[in-house]
Amino acid sequence: MKILVTGACGFIGSNFIHYLLDSHPEDNYTIVDKLTYAGDIHNLDDIKEKLDIRIADITDEKTMEELFYKKDFDIVVNMAAETHVDRSFIDEEPFFRTNVLGTTNLIKLAKKYHVRRFVQISTDEVYGDLALDSDYRYKETDRLAPSNPYSISKAMADLLCLSLSKGSELELIITRSTNNYGPYQYPEKLIPLAIDRLLSDKKIPVYGDGRNMRDWIYVLDNVRAIDLLMRKGTPGIYNIAYGHPISNLELLTDLLRSFDKDESYITFVKDRKVHDLRYALDVSKIESLGFDAKITLKEGLKKTVDWYKAHRSYLEVKKDRAYNDYLKKVYEE
Ligand code: NAD
Ligand code: DAU
Repeated sequence: MKILVTGACGFIGSNFIHYLLDSHPEDNYTIVDKLTYAGDIHNLDDIKEKLDIRIADITDEKTMEELFYKKDFDIVVNMAAETHVDRSFIDEEPFFRTNVLGTTNLIKLAKKYHVRRFVQISTDEVYGDLALDSDYRYKETDRLAPSNPYSISKAMADLLCLSLSKGSELELIITRSTNNYGPYQYPEKLIPLAIDRLLSDKKIPVYGDGRNMRDWIYVLDNVRAIDLLMRKGTPGIYNIAYGHPISNLELLTDLLRSFDKDESYITFVKDRKVHDLRYALDVSKIESLGFDAKITLKEGLKKTVDWYKAHRSYLEVKKDRAYNDYLKKVYEE
């Protein structure tokens, strides 16, 4: 099969491509990535000979059309996106350009060039948040109520995919997963940022009171789920989660323990402008296909900490002037 993966130099994308080459080396993989600050071509250094790599922007209609025309893809997996909520408050424009217009461009081309299946990688954030004491879990049929420019752009992309594929032969799968963590994640997201700070003996900035809850899934579990859906899922929307939402403070306490450090390494900082309280998903639909997340949070955190310790240079290259200026904007230290 001929498979296009966009955003493959990012966090989930590079883990996905490594997994695909291991599990299905017989397929033919093309990747497209614009290499924004979050994309790193070196994430694919060990496998680059096995890929057709295109450095390009998914919003570039002409370049994308030439690619679809030439390659005759069977499956397109769209992971390319602007992904960091804090950045979306500073400047929402790239979020709407890539996440909405870029996705629209790809789905129209997928229809025009008779791609069989289009997999749109979405997020649990499109449902909006829940009260901290709620035990509700969002279902795929629930209404969308996103709250920040990032999640609004992702919800718009989901709705456009649903609308534009309707009545066509294109099989659409939308995945909505909870927070991922693991190797190759840019250190602006909570877990790699916290690991980076602890490795440098610095305090971790916690927004607000730290009671906000997330349901952390190890990236390889999410990648396995996407692969399963891409090959065997009936068209539709699928939630993906680990299934155990915990507060940011609980998560960080576990992490601190693995560094033999205590809570004095936590510093409370100004809260996010709009900070979703709790995400939680009903995953019975994907479970009915035989999927469940295998890696416990304890195992996943250990693997992640070990990976960053063994790849200190990955964190160092990210800390250029632009990164430090960005952090200054977000945190009042
Ligand atoms: P990431 O920020 O690490 O990587 C995004 C990749 O997309 C980068 O390589 C970047 O260069 C590329 N990209 C950005 N704009 C592009 C454009 N216009 N054209 C081509 N490439 C472009 O993101 P991630 O965390 O790996 O997320 C991947 C997908 O999964 C996103 O769609 C995101 O919304 C979704 N998602 C992420 C999480 C998470 O916790 N990380 C959870 C749920 C869903
Ligand atoms: O839920 C899925 C989403 O998870 C994805 O769609 C997004 O692309 C991804 O960025 C992530 O969004 P979050 O905003 O939940 O992730 P982040 O790592 O930025 O923050 C996790 C929690 O930690 C959140 O409650 C905010 C808090 N936080 C974050 C940072 C970076 C802090 O307290 N301090 C921090 O320094």
